Amino acid sequence: MTTLSKLVLGAMGQLRPKPALGNASQSIALPPPDKTGGLPLMQVLAHRHSSRDFAPEAVPLPLLSQLLWAANGVNRPDGTRTAPSAMNAQEVDVYVALPTGAYRYDAAAHQLTLVAGSDIRRVTGYQDFVDEAPLDLVYVADHTRMSVVPVEQRVAYAYVAAGAITQNVYLFAASHGLATVIRAWIDRKAIADALGLPHDQQVLLSQTVGYPKLVQ
Ligand SMILES: Cc1cc2nc3c(=O)[nH]c(=O)nc-3n(C[C@H](O)[C@H](O)[C@H](O)COP(=O)(O)O)c2cc1C
Repeated sequence: MTTLSKLVLGAMGQLRPKPALGNASQSIALPPPDKTGGLPLMQVLAHRHSSRDFAPEAVPLPLLSQLLWAANGVNRPDGTRTAPSAMNAQEVDVYVALPTGAYRYDAAAHQLTLVAGSDIRRVTGYQDFVDEAPLDLVYVADHTRMSVVPVEQRVAYAYVAAGAITQNVYLFAASHGLATVIRAWIDRKAIADALGLPHDQQVLLSQTVGYPKLVQ
């Protein structure tokens, strides 16, 4: 769908998901993430960049498992994560939009839990590439987890925490030959509706990930 069509539909409150490809399972168990390998950090930083040209090939499950663990997985026995959060509120959830459905990443169980049995990729942003790229991530703040954070700081802190997660994804992508771009130009209401979020959950940002499109 073109950006113009999305802007028009979005203005009318009509930007909607597509039917899912195939039957979505209620949960997807992710294989244990391989925490070894990858490029050295300085090379990863030298490679980090935004990309908006994606091949349609799916990201295989073992790589998706590593990606989500790198993004915001549990990296210590006490349940703390690869990305920081103010007062360890861990308020940002990573939602995963796949052609088969939309899932929430459960970091403690390291699994995906189905939240919408439709293909919501095209709803995750106004730019056209989000429709066909194999994977769009959506970052959502759960305000019920931020009672320890001063009210006037909650939105800012949640965006900072989401930014740390997006950078983890950028670094993982640079290390593992994937393309990615963080996106703030999104229809937050349409995404919240597509994910069925309650009022105390706030859509913050989105991020597309996939293999880079090969230039002919
Ligand atoms: C908060 C934020 C919002 C962004 N929103 C978008 C967006 O909606 N769409 C997009 O294509 N790129 C978006 N970007 C990516 C920037 O355009 C990109 O980082 C910038 O052009 C620098 O390029 P680089 O990431 O390759 O260094 C965003 C970046 C940030 C930090």
